Formats: sequence, structure tokens, C-alpha cells
Amino acid sequence: MAKRSSKVAIDSTSLIKDFQLPGGELVHVLTGVDLKIKKGEFIGVMGPSGSGKSTLLNILATLETITEGEVKIAGVNLHNTSYKDRLQIRRTKSSVVFQNFALIPYLTAKENVKLPMKLRGVIETEAESKAIDFLEIVGLFARIDHLPEELSGGEQQRVAIARALAHEPDIIYADEPTGNLDTHTGKDIIALFKNLAKEQKITIIMVTHDTLSARETDRLYILQKGKVLKEQTKILDSKYEGKKEVKK
Ligand SMILES: Nc1ncnc2c1ncn2[C@@H]1O[C@H](COP(=O)(O)OP(=O)(O)OP(=O)(O)O)[C@@H](O)[C@H]1O
Ligand SMILES: [Mg+2]
Repeated sequence: MAKRSSKVAIDSTSLIKDFQLPGGELVHVLTGVDLKIKKGEFIGVMGPSGSGKSTLLNILATLETITEGEVKIAGVNLHNTSYKDRLQIRRTKSSVVFQNFALIPYLTAKENVKLPMKLRGVIETEAESKAIDFLEIVGLFARIDHLPEELSGGEQQRVAIARALAHEPDIIYADEPTGNLDTHTGKDIIALFKNLAKEQKITIIMVTHDTLSARETDRLYILQKGKVLKEQTKILDSKYEGKKEVKK
């Protein structure tokens, strides 16, 4: 049996994604994406609006299917998996953090973090103590009993990250996680991601339009028209910030 490399978190070759519109027309969103991402890397994904960043993230997070090509998450080929397998990958290997935090408004910070563990069948006492640990990691120990509306935007995003940690993921996917935060708060979130990658060896894949955030990543993929236009270790200019992509 081939030995599974535990160092590679994500490996995609010629990844293609088409969407079919209700009228039957095909939209070619990803036109051949190659990625090789190692465990514990903090990766930025940039590119004009409409270039396919969110689609790519959703595919890697198994929230969306592939049209063609090969994608391996921690050595598991997504093409050869059943829906049940993909659900398993999603539950055990990865978590997603969104721009709008997506917290449950009537649950406290602690209850929001506990929920995924409860759904997974973790016993109450363990879920409780882990939730507190995760909130401590993100620096929110003093806010555990607050409702989302009683928290600032940056604090809400940190709860969302603590909730992501509750999946004990190998990979965290973050789609514009600082998009709704001011520069200073955004910086805290980026610092937290950097730390999670370094200290906990969690692979972080972050879509961002912000060059300052991108600068903090280990490596960047710049998408254009559904392809990797460039791969670079550090952001060099702001040419790719938030521009609209012109569709042919
Ligand atoms: N379900 C869908 N059906 C049809 N087309 C879609 C679907 N989802 C996305 N698209 C199209 O795919 C393209 C890429 O969308 P995507 O959301 O991945 O872009 P993005 O790079 O994340 O953009 P932004 O920076 O604005 O968030 C867009 O042209 C969009 O209209
Ligand atoms: Mg997007």
C-alpha cells in the first residue's frame, strides 16, 4: 500500500469547476487549478472578484463538488469518496470561517463553540471544558457567557475561530475573515491565524482582498479567471486588490 504523506495537506491537479445555469449554459469557474500545500502552512488566496476564490475554498472544504481534476485532502482523493466519506473529511479534518461570522445569535460564545462538539457526540463535561480552552486560545476567556450581540465584530470572529477549533481541524478555510473588521481588529485575527499555523500546525487557507493580511501569510496563490496566475512567497504590490474581473 502506498504510504500516505502526512506533510501534504492539500494537493490539487488540474482542478476544474463548471456550474450549470438553469437554462443549461455552463459557467467555467475554475479552469485548471494546481495547488500543493503543506501541513501547517498559512496560505493566502487573492484575485479579482469573480476569479473563483470562494468556489475553490468551498471545493477544498468539501462543500462543493468537482467537475474534473484531482484533489487530495490529507492524501484522500475527493473524487473516489462517497458523500458519507466527504462528510467525514469535513467533520474531522477541516473547519470553515466566514466573513459574516455565522454565529447562532441566541447562544452564548461558549454554547456556540460547544455546539459542533455536541453534534459530534462529545460528552457534555468534555465539550464544556474544551469550549473554554478554545475560547482561551483565541483570547476570549472573559467573554464566554456573552451573546454574539454583546460582542464586538472582532470578538465574534474570534468566537467563530474558536468554534472552528472545536472540530479539532487539520485545516481551517477562511473566506475573507477580516472583511467586516477594521484594520486593527483584522490584524489581531491574522496574528491569531499565524499563531495557530505555527504553534498547532493547523493549515490555514485564507481568501483575502487585503494586501496587509496577505503579507502575513507564508505563501500566496493569486487567481485570475479560474486559474493560478501566480504563486508567490510574499505580496509585492496591490494590483490584485478587489478589482472586478471582466467576464467574456
Ligand atoms: N452556484 C453558482 N452557479 C453559477 N455560477 C456561479 C455559482 N457560484 C459562483 N458562480 C460564479 O463563479 C464565479 C466565481 O465566483 P466566486 O464566488 O468563487 O468568486 P470570488 O473570487 O470568491 O469573488 P469575490 O471576491 O467577489 O468573493 C463568479 O462569476 C460567479 O458568478
Ligand atoms: Mg468570494
